[in-house]
Amino acid sequence: MVPLIELQRITKRFGALVANEAVDLQVQEGALHAIVGENGAGKTTLMRILYGYYLPDSGEIRLRGNPVHFRSPADAIASRIGMVSQHYSIIPELTVLDNLILGFETANSWGLLERRQAQTRATEMAASLDFAPHWSQPASELSPAEKQKLEILKLLWRNADILILDEPTAMLSPSDTGALFGNLMRLKQEGRTILLVTHKLSEVMQYADYVTVLRDGRKVAESAVADTDPQQLTRWIIGEEGKESEPSETISPTSVLTSAPVLEISDLWVKGDRGGWALQKFNLQLYPGEILGIAGVDGNGQTELVETLAGLRIPSKGNLKIQGVSMNHWSAAKRLQAGIRFLFDDRFRRGMIAAWSVRDNAILGSHRDPDIQSLGWYNLSAVQQRARALIQRFQVKTSGLNAPMSSLSGGNQQRLVIARTLNGSPKALIAYTPTRGLDIKGIESTYRVIREACAHGMAALVVSLDLEELMTYSTRIATIYRGQLTRAFEPEEFSREQIGAAMIGLEA
Ligand SMILES: Nc1ncnc2c1ncn2[C@@H]1O[C@H](COP(=O)(O)OP(=O)(O)OP(=O)(O)O)[C@@H](O)[C@H]1O
Ligand SMILES: [Mg+2]
Repeated sequence: MVPLIELQRITKRFGALVANEAVDLQVQEGALHAIVGENGAGKTTLMRILYGYYLPDSGEIRLRGNPVHFRSPADAIASRIGMVSQHYSIIPELTVLDNLILGFETANSWGLLERRQAQTRATEMAASLDFAPHWSQPASELSPAEKQKLEILKLLWRNADILILDEPTAMLSPSDTGALFGNLMRLKQEGRTILLVTHKLSEVMQYADYVTVLRDGRKVAESAVADTDPQQLTRWIIGEEGKESEPSETISPTSVLTSAPVLEISDLWVKGDRGGWALQKFNLQLYPGEILGIAGVDGNGQTELVETLAGLRIPSKGNLKIQGVSMNHWSAAKRLQAGIRFLFDDRFRRGMIAAWSVRDNAILGSHRDPDIQSLGWYNLSAVQQRARALIQRFQVKTSGLNAPMSSLSGGNQQRLVIARTLNGSPKALIAYTPTRGLDIKGIESTYRVIREACAHGMAALVVSLDLEELMTYSTRIATIYRGQLTRAFEPEEFSREQIGAAMIGLEA
């Protein structure tokens, strides 16, 4: 049988860096085909070549056995291939409908936009994804899961029947992930073919038909999912030499609840963007040495909590203290100076400047540090040194300090942002889904560094939608539900059922 898609010996270089080296890939029609591999392995690059976003240096693409030459995504779209990238392409200021039809509007015979017809058709299409947005609402108001649905709907709007999804679940809660795969299964039954890039092997095992493993730009394995298992996949992903390099972790911080809290939140009330209270009667004490996981279902006040702590949202009422000192009226900059560090959920908006170099991103926010700057002059060699140390500590894969941040793979951008955030000796870390987009080693090193800092007295507040991750790495877990902190659990009380129940407001 001729495969639907065939990539033959695809090679792509960026300068001296070989992102894809003679990669072969065959995808069967109607299959869900997963692509896995470490951060920087070349997954996104390969998918972008299939989507016409990059031209390969050599190699060939065939569709149903016929060679195709895509010079741009428009060519790929004309061949009914669509891609949802790792970083959403939604324009927040535009309405949901305009985002959907942008560039693919239908006009009537007078050349006028058929908005009403477009909306009717969109409503019908969206229903099959269980998606019923207000079409005239700005897209910025959509939840992460709704944005994801809109991205997929855009592909359907363009008649794509080959869907490429690059880490679609990195920012989704487990229940939204389940719903997404429900939709993907349905699209598959309708005859569509899906290429899925993911770091989550459980998704591969549960939903994929085939899996291809990339390592260092090369294809190292391809298998029917039924013929492999997570252990085998992990071995392929990290390779033999990768195995012994990670020493097993032993130091574990113990929260010192007897000492004074680093951060104290009392009776905090914060308004939400859509009216109502995003946080109410919120009380929390964060102690030195602890990693406090905040578990909750998406949209229960997590974003507002992090933004309020960062000084980006003004509370209506309540008190915030750092080491006993009220910081209610402090600017965001002053909070940073006081030693609080933040990792936001959206690294593109708040974590990095894509067009700047890796070096400049590595010191972003710490450019006033006395060892980097004095009398208004940057000490370039100190900056270089700092950047190099961060890159080394988090094994950031980059072609050099001068490379633009946008040239890093998604996971490597995240590594650099984390490395910078944890540099120095912060007193408190407030992190929203810090490990999004990271491979297994990246997750391990993130928590290793957080643990080390906590062993030296830092306090960490980690907000995540992934209860498994919180149960693995936290020293205490608190649940957030409808803007309130509902329960706290000590490690000996960690239970999936009980925490899960508290997350949805049930008394355990
Ligand atoms: N436009 C570019 N310019 C320079 N280098 C690039 C560019 N795009 C990708 N690279 C490099 O190619 C390599 C592969 O990157 P790619 O984004 O394909 O990785 P990935 O497997 O998707 O990783 P991740 O899991 O982190 O998303 C990386 O080393 C990356 O820095
Ligand atoms: Mg990628």
